[in-house]
Amino acid sequence: MKEKETSRSSFTGKLGFVLAAAGSAVGLGNLWRFPYLAAQYGGGIFLLVYVILAFTFGFTLMTTEIAIGRKTGKSAISAFGALDKRFAFIGGLSSIVPVIITPYYCVIGGWVTKYLGVYLSSAGRAAAEDGYFGAFISQPWQPLVWFFVFVLATSVVVILGVEKGIEKASKIMMPILLLLSIVIAIYSCTRPGAIDGILYYVRPDFSKLSVKTVLAALGQLFYSMSLAMGIMITYGSYMQKSTDLESSVRQIEFFDTLIAFLAGLMIIPAVFVFSGGDESAMGAGPGLMFITLPKVFLSMPGGQLIGGAFFFLVLFAALTSSISLMETIVSILMDRLGWNRLFSTVMSTIFVLLAGIPSSLGFGVWSHVTPLGMDILDFFDFLSNTLLMPIVSFLICFIVAYILKPDFIIEEAKAEGAAFRTEKFYRFMIRVVAPIGIVAIWVSSMAASLGLISL
Ligand code: PFF
Repeated sequence: MKEKETSRSSFTGKLGFVLAAAGSAVGLGNLWRFPYLAAQYGGGIFLLVYVILAFTFGFTLMTTEIAIGRKTGKSAISAFGALDKRFAFIGGLSSIVPVIITPYYCVIGGWVTKYLGVYLSSAGRAAAEDGYFGAFISQPWQPLVWFFVFVLATSVVVILGVEKGIEKASKIMMPILLLLSIVIAIYSCTRPGAIDGILYYVRPDFSKLSVKTVLAALGQLFYSMSLAMGIMITYGSYMQKSTDLESSVRQIEFFDTLIAFLAGLMIIPAVFVFSGGDESAMGAGPGLMFITLPKVFLSMPGGQLIGGAFFFLVLFAALTSSISLMETIVSILMDRLGWNRLFSTVMSTIFVLLAGIPSSLGFGVWSHVTPLGMDILDFFDFLSNTLLMPIVSFLICFIVAYILKPDFIIEEAKAEGAAFRTEKFYRFMIRVVAPIGIVAIWVSSMAASLGLISL
């Protein structure tokens, strides 16, 4: 707890804060999850719904969470209790989210590490072959070993602490990731036959709009922007009062959405090119990035090198996110149980290592275990993103709108004379649109999933 206190307010200035928060936000959610969901849920319509939600719901929720963190100076689990004893359970609920996400996130992080290894060892050609990815994830040991490597890398940085580990590296790596993504996206989009894929991705087909699409986009939004799990509250507690909150939020969400959009542009047109325009290839799910990109790199001059650079940057983006996930679990243990940082990190690492095993084996020896018809990793993903996060977000909106009142947040956004240009919009979003919208989307989609209504 003491160590935690001394490391607060350690982000130096706005750029440091924005890049560190973007480092948490930009990760596998953008590069791995967004493209496969967009491909699965109808392309352009998913993109459109996502962007609308990002700049309305996303803005509102991120502003709220960061403001709560900065105002209370506490991490999520304590912040809610500090506002009002009756709200303490929201802290508890939101802290379940990283506990569910971190293990399976690290399993995917392991896949990325493996692909980096593939490109470093000049085996990019093999990775581009059909069936390579499926053969890899269905083995029992290999994916587990890469998963372990990824978890240990995460833990080492968490032990080193906030400032040294995250901030410095983000300043260099995030802009490079952006540049390389642009290069690869341009290459993918200029392949012969890519135009149909580009149209699929950017042109909304309203006949594919369903409430499930909206819920998937909402879940993706929470996930991608690291909302509803206390992370942004914790980051806000490290933010200086003099840093402009509104424009920081705008920049984080712009950067996050841009990277997701580019990831879609890298991957979706390429799926069209390499499947010969077969739309059913769009439903590949979690494997999409790993199946498609090696084919892109194989066809590219210098693809082995570019593939290596790309997976290196994805690995970095995944690490900055997994670090912030692990950091949240560690800070919960420190706050609640009074353990020191080292011991809390060791215990979290052991937990993540054990809890990730089923998600990893679920693609191979445990593929017969299919809760609610999903494989194990998808099931955890569903639990956190579709079930828990909307509930947590609704509760946050509700207490801010009707118990604490929006001025509580607005005053914080205006600290030290900062402007809050979208104050009216914020007020309307937090009181009306966000809480009603979240409940409406969530309830109707659940009802549709259970077959109670057809949408
Ligand atoms: N936002 C990260 C991503 O898009 O990959 C994932 C993530 C990181 C989720 C940190 C949650 C979190 F707390």
